[in-house]
Amino acid sequence: MKKVDVVLGLQWGDEGKGKVVDVLTPNYKVIARFQGGPNAGHSIHFAGKSFVLHTVPSGIFRDGSVNIIGNGVVVDPVILADEIAQIEAMGIDLTSKLFLSKKAHLILPTHRMLDAASEAAKGKTKIGSTLKGIGPTYMDKTGRNGLRIGDILSPEFKERYERLKSKHAEMLAQYEGFEYDVTEYEQKWFEGIESLRRFPLIESEYEVNKFIAADEAILAEGAQGSMLDIDFGTYPYVTSSNTLCAGVCTGLGVAPTRIGEVYGIFKAYCTRVGSGPFPTELFDEVGEKLRAVGHEFGATTGRPRRCGWLDLVALKYAVMMNGVTGLIMMKADVMNDFETIKIATAYELNGEQLDYFPFEAADDVKPVYREFKGWNCDICKVRTWEDFPVEFREYVEFIEQETGVPVKIISVGPDREETIVR
Ligand code: IMP
Repeated sequence: MKKVDVVLGLQWGDEGKGKVVDVLTPNYKVIARFQGGPNAGHSIHFAGKSFVLHTVPSGIFRDGSVNIIGNGVVVDPVILADEIAQIEAMGIDLTSKLFLSKKAHLILPTHRMLDAASEAAKGKTKIGSTLKGIGPTYMDKTGRNGLRIGDILSPEFKERYERLKSKHAEMLAQYEGFEYDVTEYEQKWFEGIESLRRFPLIESEYEVNKFIAADEAILAEGAQGSMLDIDFGTYPYVTSSNTLCAGVCTGLGVAPTRIGEVYGIFKAYCTRVGSGPFPTELFDEVGEKLRAVGHEFGATTGRPRRCGWLDLVALKYAVMMNGVTGLIMMKADVMNDFETIKIATAYELNGEQLDYFPFEAADDVKPVYREFKGWNCDICKVRTWEDFPVEFREYVEFIEQETGVPVKIISVGPDREETIVR
């Protein structure tokens, strides 16, 4: 029986999952999203164009693929319908390729308003949410109030929608001075709901397990990153789902014994969007250089990303909890032009050296760095491991030695060819 392979981000998101999934998808029949929602933005380069996928799994451009939006995902019908329309405009038929779990929760227009009101009320302590309604939707899911994709088939759907909307209106009334009007969005929302009816709404846990039993290759595609996990991330500056490998089990109905390879993606440096601890963040010209060269601006929100050196303490934490079997290193080429490169190998907290990610994290910790000589040359054209400069290989080998996991894929540019598989 085949196992479900997983690909996920090991940092604070934006590791470049879109490109990697695109590189990996030819090996898989089924690509499934298991958590998150349109807060994600997976950039894919297809037919000479760039395309950002928010809810649709990244296998969608491959012929014969099955793309499943799993029960753990939260869906905004407006954003999904828009994404579908854009893909169909490219001449791709999705009705035979895209499948939605009936158990996936719906993001209501008022969930978005609750997100906005809550963030505004938090002031300086705001999470820096993408404001797509993710947190409030997961709150309604765990609070047992949510509406799910399968509910759109019920004759009482509209009534249930109105009931939840009124509940949200009461909650929104608590936010003094917060004004909103969802009329326009609501209209598009119901149009979106209608347009979803032409897709197969499925019991995705059965379908996924049927594919497993039939020995079909399945790839679970993570969104956000491990350090944004609701349980183990830098809480409360996290997203509202389990971004870790464990999320595949609950977000798709896959048993833990059916998990196969776990590919962990990380950037050769670190970035973060939104607020929250980031121990290796750089506030100087080095950080600015990483941002400029790496085009570090959010795919969903356009916000500039915070940049810093690679944090091995956080990376090892993520590797441990995901059971990563293979590492994938992205955007090493961004550091082509650096005399020295640093990696944080420990933290200092109250005069003590820590080799783990502490509860207190990160606000007060000071990274302890190890310095490496930069390779200081263009590695974009390199296609084999042996052809990389020795300084680059030392950098990679140090990461392998520290994490105990091989770096199996190295990406040195946005194009599919700029990928070295070891
Ligand atoms: P939310 O999930 O939109 O509520 O955002 C919560 C936090 O997670 C914020 O700091 C966001 O910037 C961050 N976040 C959410 N989705 C992504 C993503 O796909 N990439 C990177 N950061 C994300």
